[in-house]
Amino acid sequence: EKGGYPHFMLKEIYEQPKTIIDCTRGRISADGSSVTLSGVMANKERFLNANRIIFVACGTSWHASLIGERLIEEMCRIPVEVEYASEFRYRNPVINKGDIVIAVSQSGETADTLAAVELAKERGAFIFGICNQVGSSIARATDSGTYIHVGPEIGVASTKAFTGQVTVMAMIALTLAHEKGTVTPEYFSEVIRGLQRLPELIERVLESDGRISELSKIFTYSRNFLYLGRGYNYPVALEGALKLKEISYIHAEGYPAAEMKHGPIALIDSEMPVVAIATADNIYDKTVSNIQTVKARGGKIIAVVTEGDTVVRAIADHCIEVPPIIECLTPILVSVPLQLLAYHIAVNKDRNVDQPRNLAKSVTVE
Ligand code: F6R
Repeated sequence: EKGGYPHFMLKEIYEQPKTIIDCTRGRISADGSSVTLSGVMANKERFLNANRIIFVACGTSWHASLIGERLIEEMCRIPVEVEYASEFRYRNPVINKGDIVIAVSQSGETADTLAAVELAKERGAFIFGICNQVGSSIARATDSGTYIHVGPEIGVASTKAFTGQVTVMAMIALTLAHEKGTVTPEYFSEVIRGLQRLPELIERVLESDGRISELSKIFTYSRNFLYLGRGYNYPVALEGALKLKEISYIHAEGYPAAEMKHGPIALIDSEMPVVAIATADNIYDKTVSNIQTVKARGGKIIAVVTEGDTVVRAIADHCIEVPPIIECLTPILVSVPLQLLAYHIAVNKDRNVDQPRNLAKSVTVE
């Protein structure tokens, strides 16, 4: 049932070109002129008049939500907040009429997320779900939603669900932006074109697997890792660190690259590998200077860069390339090599990749 792969996690990483197709199927018109999400369109007025959108989620789904925040704010100009479901539910949160709560959950069974949904519902919010598991508790508790349709995810470490969640969030942002007229037709088309090309581009990223496996051997015995990213890729840094922690049991932290100088820089020495996401985006130059700072302190740099990059390549110890794509979709491409890096390090350490210690696939307890 692992389809010839040694672990479900690797199978699920490799499935991503296909799961993105399943996720966008019937939702993006073949000619790339429109996006249709029935759950959003059926509640169009509510979304267009929303004062605020609040994402509630846990773990990887919370990281995806941070990307959703950036997508919706950038494209739709609606204020967005992202909350850990466990914090939201015990904080007596301010929920106003006109707020939309979006619950994000692969399993649809996470206890804290379900409780956050129930609370928001009691207070009169409109609740939208982004789930994978059809008919799950969260999917049933929400007023409407969009399934990610990536198929069963068996590996405890979430991979294809994350890229599916981000893809759905990009489609939600596009749908609303189109209705609101908050993006130019050129931008709208470029994002759609990006979504259509994702499967082929993820295939290209997967071709680096052999190199990433080689690279992983250098870092098998590292005790700590730092992951740095900015903008759309800051949440990807958090997600990369979580993947490594949960399956290899190596301590890792994700940080917004520019926050380094406010503390974590003290940790940098030659024993500290730093995974730096430095794709060609509007803050590339700033990221380059953050990387230079790490280098000057002896940190070992593994950089994720856009194909053809020369500037970071000259500074970093190791580079992993991803193909160019519109900035807002880079998280989907960048997360793949980070999944692979965590996977190979965990395999090198002979960890139980699909069922890491102390973790369950659905966290149905508080
Ligand atoms: C990490 C992971 C967890 C889940 C979290 C939420 O790889 O799988 O952090 O993301 O437990 O689960 P769902 O999305 O099912 O609500």
